[in-house]
Amino acid sequence: MNRFDYEYPVRIHFGQGCFEESLKKELPKYGKTVMLAYGGGSLKRTGLYDRIVAILTETGKTVVDFAGIMPNPTYVKVQEGARLAREQKVDFILAVGGGSVSDCCKIVSTQARLDADIWDYEYTAHKTPADFIPMGVIVTASGTGSEQNNGAVITNEEKKQKSPLWGCFADFAILDPDLTRTVPMRQVISGAFDTLSHCMETYFGNPHATNVSDEINEAIQRNVIANLKAIAANPDDDHARSELMWTSAMGENGILKLGKQTDFQCHMLEHQLGAYTDCNHGQGLAVLHPTLYRHIYQSAPEKFNRWAQEVWLVQNAEDGIDALEDFIREVGLPTTLSEMGITLDEATRRAIAESTIITPGCCKQMKTDELYEVLKECE
Ligand code: NZQ
Ligand code: ZN
Repeated sequence: MNRFDYEYPVRIHFGQGCFEESLKKELPKYGKTVMLAYGGGSLKRTGLYDRIVAILTETGKTVVDFAGIMPNPTYVKVQEGARLAREQKVDFILAVGGGSVSDCCKIVSTQARLDADIWDYEYTAHKTPADFIPMGVIVTASGTGSEQNNGAVITNEEKKQKSPLWGCFADFAILDPDLTRTVPMRQVISGAFDTLSHCMETYFGNPHATNVSDEINEAIQRNVIANLKAIAANPDDDHARSELMWTSAMGENGILKLGKQTDFQCHMLEHQLGAYTDCNHGQGLAVLHPTLYRHIYQSAPEKFNRWAQEVWLVQNAEDGIDALEDFIREVGLPTTLSEMGITLDEATRRAIAESTIITPGCCKQMKTDELYEVLKECE
């Protein structure tokens, strides 16, 4: 294993029905003016909005509404939130939603306390922000594990980049599986596949020698596969729903990454696919993963063979990748871009490949031309 320092700053409240009690326990620790941030409408439709506002009011908070955070949140939306937070002198941000709301709020929290433009600050000046409005997350759709870390994926439409920015860690995260019952099954499945992808992207990073982080990772992958199949077959399977919520957190709370350099090449390619098509993150990953792995597995044959044996219970790497693809099909995820309704013309395919970050942790250092080939093969 590589050398590491580990500190974990997010308090977790996990469990069916834990939401109200946990929120009431946390709120008194924060200032009076609370920004309630959420997505495009599900929060009000499900009635959760009213329940949260009642708790905020009961706790003596003034509510500042920040609505309409879209899937694949944009840089413009981040700036809108930061302006609002400054104008209203927000003391605390309560992000309620999936990865998009959580990501957007991490950067709102950061930009609101920063005079410079955060994109320039991080990408041009290469500085790391250190001052944040405190934030808590109530997870209503699991999969990304965004509430566990301080990375955020933001789409800069002007620059045609969907890229990571570093923001705040949440002080706390509430993971109540009951709140995810209203998530459309399509999103439940693509969210859980995102978790599997995070595990794989960590597993195939260096070092490859068998280590405790990767052995835990294999167990998490097996769990995601079993519970994703279970929930796809029966949306009322509360046990599977709750397991998937915790595996989502395990994928991103740093435990699996200890002593590892992660890969995340598939994510980088998918993010740029998202920058050009606004596609669903988990679905994009499902299409790209098997094809990308067929390009790289020969650079880490022993690791891919072990993965095939431990996770998919087949003998060798090629069979493991086939099993991954069969699983994707079995749970109803797309295996081609055309199944997602995406047709890329030559110039767009080239632009996506050229704007994709090449990750140092991938077992095979990809080149732009090969990423282009991957995209072409995924048509
Ligand atoms: O906007 P509303 O109306 O709330 O609907 C949302 C949205 O349409 C809906 N939803 C959420 N909770 C619901 C619900 N519908 C009914 N009932 C509920 N309880 O779900 C839809 C998708 O939500 P979104 O937050 O976009 O999905 P997800 O959690 O998959 O997040 C995707 C974003 O996270 C980024 C992705 O790139 C993408 O932008 N990621 C963030 C990561 C991180 N920070 O660690 C890691 C990931 O790799 C990922 O890149
Ligand atoms: Zn992801």
